[in-house]
Amino acid sequence: MSQTWWRGAAIYQVYLRSFADGNGDGAGDLAGLRFRLPYLKDLGIDAIWLNPWYPSPMADGGYDVADYRDIEPVFGTLGEAERFIEEAHELGIKVIIDVVPNHSSTESAWFKEALANPAARDRFWFADEPLNDWQSIFGGSAWTQVPDGQWYLHLFDPGQPDLNWNNPEVHQEFEDVLRFWFDRGVDGVRIDSAALLIKSDTAYEDLDEVHDVYRRWREVADEYDERILIGEVWLPDQERFARYLRPDELHTAFNFDFLSCAWDPADLRRSIELTLTTHTPIGAPPTWVLSNHDVTRPVTRYGRADTSFAHGGALHGSPTDLELGYRRARAAALLAMALPGSVYVYQGEELGLPEVEDLPDEVRQDPMHARSGGTNPGRDGCRIPLPWSGEEPPFGFGTGTPWLPQPEGWRKLTAEAQRTDLGSMLNLYRTGLGIRRELLGDGTLTWLPLGEQVLAFTRDSGLTCVTNLGANPVPLPAGRLLLASGPVVDGLLPSDTTAWLSPES
Ligand code: NOJ
Repeated sequence: MSQTWWRGAAIYQVYLRSFADGNGDGAGDLAGLRFRLPYLKDLGIDAIWLNPWYPSPMADGGYDVADYRDIEPVFGTLGEAERFIEEAHELGIKVIIDVVPNHSSTESAWFKEALANPAARDRFWFADEPLNDWQSIFGGSAWTQVPDGQWYLHLFDPGQPDLNWNNPEVHQEFEDVLRFWFDRGVDGVRIDSAALLIKSDTAYEDLDEVHDVYRRWREVADEYDERILIGEVWLPDQERFARYLRPDELHTAFNFDFLSCAWDPADLRRSIELTLTTHTPIGAPPTWVLSNHDVTRPVTRYGRADTSFAHGGALHGSPTDLELGYRRARAAALLAMALPGSVYVYQGEELGLPEVEDLPDEVRQDPMHARSGGTNPGRDGCRIPLPWSGEEPPFGFGTGTPWLPQPEGWRKLTAEAQRTDLGSMLNLYRTGLGIRRELLGDGTLTWLPLGEQVLAFTRDSGLTCVTNLGANPVPLPAGRLLLASGPVVDGLLPSDTTAWLSPES
């Protein structure tokens, strides 16, 4: 792969706890992931991004990190993580890990020290009384009181105390953590809640000083070969968003504007154009993301009347046409893979898994659910352990009972069942990623005017991608059909379908 492998990479997101369980305790782990590496190689991805794998009390699925330099025992050991990195590299797969700098855990050594010694509280935000009326992003107050009467700030769960980035020790710590993992061969980091680090008395989102942090981190990354920084930056203002991607800051950031789009030609075209116009002048490659561990699975989302995504779970349980959602999710996958830049695939997306909306409250683990008083279902429904094989739960996930229950109906969605079915979602992703590797990725696009209901463009290689979002079939332009997300008959592209064409006839 080239010096700039990340500019056009297909990156597969592994939510370790739900990927594959190697030791039978019902939770995914490194042993399970290592066993399944050939599956990922065969799928045709370039890199794996793993959600946090550090020791954690799991107040927020591992985003409450107790020790940034070790591995959660449920997932394995540091030695296993090192072997995993080597094995992935042997298969030509890069490894990206999650770094969580906005907050740590109440179980971290720093927080324990702060609790024991009020003089050691400056690494966090402690005060004699709440300094403002901020609400936690998961619901409830963002301030929690400790036994001696002081309060600490947590933008998320009380188990995730916010770090104080005015303290130079915090800067030093994270620069060391980056080096710790880069020294172990990690190829990049995904930066959690990247825009929230710096706080003023009245605000915490996207304050200018946060860019100084990433300029420093970029210097650290540049001490190594080809290591990248990826930002989780949820900002509605795309000009502000693009500031994180200036040449001396982050390499890329997730495109949440695209992820949140309705299945609507005007909205998607607007988002794609906006993405290209904000990224091109600063030389940053766009990313294309349809889902992750925080959002409703596309098969479900695209089957609803309102196909956009917004946090808050308001659309949870609304009437859903899963067949329609599945068809659109296939079309969206080929659209996302064809756009210039890198593409993310969240585990299970390639199996066409729907959101599991009927989990009983007592099994839900996401703090969003409990802290909203049950009004927000939380994110467990997109984090169900993967179905690998067999006719009934645990569907080859492992030998134990999975930490979240899998629907019985997933027997048709196992990787094994889809492997031999040429029309399956799995084979659409495999074939699509294979063609993408040769003909797509980094570069530019040229729009083709095929009508308002159709998104059509040609890429530098000559490959043309056509997505029909209208109600009626449309004639495809000239070219040889390489791949389509649904049946193309007599040169007509049906509704909610994407086709890829090559110029040769
Ligand atoms: C974003 C992560 O993706 C999400 O899962 C987590 O709850 C918050 N950041 C807090 O770390």
